[in-house]
Amino acid sequence: MILAAKDLALSIKDEVKKNVAENNLKLTLAVILVGEDNASKIYVRNKKIACEYIGIKSLIYELPESISQNELLEIVFELNERSDVTGILVQLPLPKHIDEAFIMENINPLKDVDGFHPENVGKLTLGSPKLVPCTAIGIIKLLEHFKINIDGENCVVVGRSNDVGKPVASLMLAKNATVTICHSHTKNLAQITKTADILISAVGKAKFINCDMIKENSTLIDVGMNRIDGKLCGDIDFDSCISKAKNITPVPGGVGLMTIAMLMQNCIIANALQKFRNVGK
Ligand code: GUN
Repeated sequence: MILAAKDLALSIKDEVKKNVAENNLKLTLAVILVGEDNASKIYVRNKKIACEYIGIKSLIYELPESISQNELLEIVFELNERSDVTGILVQLPLPKHIDEAFIMENINPLKDVDGFHPENVGKLTLGSPKLVPCTAIGIIKLLEHFKINIDGENCVVVGRSNDVGKPVASLMLAKNATVTICHSHTKNLAQITKTADILISAVGKAKFINCDMIKENSTLIDVGMNRIDGKLCGDIDFDSCISKAKNITPVPGGVGLMTIAMLMQNCIIANALQKFRNVGK
């Protein structure tokens, strides 16, 4: 089965849209883009389009590559204080002279719709998640939608990033999978990936996973967004793996669509958390 996310992502966005309209929610998502990275510009544009579809106001800050860490921090502080701003997203990667972790730490955790603030990471790890990284929660929603069992399954995550690898491993663990995280220093990678009932690849290398690295009848989740000659392709060699795997997500049309849908849902969650705590009111 090809796990196409189009219908599910649309139904999640429609649910959020309905929630916004019925409850007359006034939500604003602030997105900060620093520099000229083309992929980041596309991601930010897609976030803006999703906000327009749902009825969430978006404030897009396009800042020069040369902005200092302190200048960026000042903008984050201002957005933290604004009672009309529901969510703050600083698009990554940031230029080398800016400490990404430091910027993330300074976003109000109740407005952290990326789920990257240490408080939100801690809550996820401790098993009481609030705002969870969008791609990671999107993968869980996708698996559940297609009724793919997680409980007791061997899950191998390839990639240990803070935005995908680690949070998706935490969520799969919370769903009672037996989780292994592999990375660039892992020995005998194929030997480990071949044990995966559910293989999640988030390494950012085109066609990195081939049919000799997967288990028969497994479920393959491809988080990669790579380009070969301008054409989008995932980490998993789709053509090589499709006949051996039981399920596989396409690129494009898979996990990426879920990320945006879950970002919209995180705006609703952030709004509810702030109401509860009377943030900036
Ligand atoms: N860059 C690539 N993916 C993401 C994401 O989900 N959030 C942010 N902030 N930056 C990204």
